[in-house]
Amino acid sequence: MEVLEAIQSRRSIRKFKPDAVPQDYITELIEAGRLAPSGTNLQPTRYVVIKSEDSREKLKECTPLPFVPAAPVVIACCIDTKSINSTGDRMKELREAQAFVNTPLNEDNNDSDSYNKRRSTMDETAAKAYLSLNAAIAIDHITLRATDLGLGSCWVMMFDKSKVKDLLGLDDRYEVLALLPIGYPDQSPAQRPRLDIKEVLLKEI
Ligand SMILES: Cc1cc2nc3c(=O)[nH]c(=O)nc-3n(C[C@H](O)[C@H](O)[C@H](O)COP(=O)(O)O)c2cc1C
Repeated sequence: MEVLEAIQSRRSIRKFKPDAVPQDYITELIEAGRLAPSGTNLQPTRYVVIKSEDSREKLKECTPLPFVPAAPVVIACCIDTKSINSTGDRMKELREAQAFVNTPLNEDNNDSDSYNKRRSTMDETAAKAYLSLNAAIAIDHITLRATDLGLGSCWVMMFDKSKVKDLLGLDDRYEVLALLPIGYPDQSPAQRPRLDIKEVLLKEI
């Protein structure tokens, strides 16, 4: 499937067939998230795949949306809050990989490292917002790859974060950003309303 077709045909799916999702498809979805870009290549997104009957049963207590635990697979998309501290290592890797050749970012110990300094002085709220922004890109990659594989998905943020964290057995290092129920769609919704292009394109200058 072409990228354009995946973008145009993706829908939030809220009714899934009970059919199992093949394990290699689940791996493909995580791989799509892994390949997403991130600021300074921080790669802050982590995943927990929820697929056992038992875990999905327990998930019912964590969200008011029954279609979430009803999906055969739910990917809990999390941020690793400690990843913000790896900016220096990631920058070094990028320089070694020649990512910044012919840009000011190629120079160590100059103004390009102001990114690094700014990052290290970010307060917790700003850091979480920044990491969440990066995770959102990875999650979007997953939803498009799901469409490509004939699977449906839906971004879900309506859940009790602490209950989900308990269920996943994650410590405070991780924050659960979104749940992504995944499965074969049992509905084929029309495209959802969108603002007109004239409303979203403010100007060309
Ligand atoms: C950040 C984000 C959070 C969302 N949270 C929920 C949610 O908690 N429950 C839900 O049913 N849909 C949720 N959605 C899905 C949106 O309602 C949906 O994307 C929007 O209505 C457009 O429909 P479409 O995805 O089919 O194009 C969320 C989507 C995004 C991007």
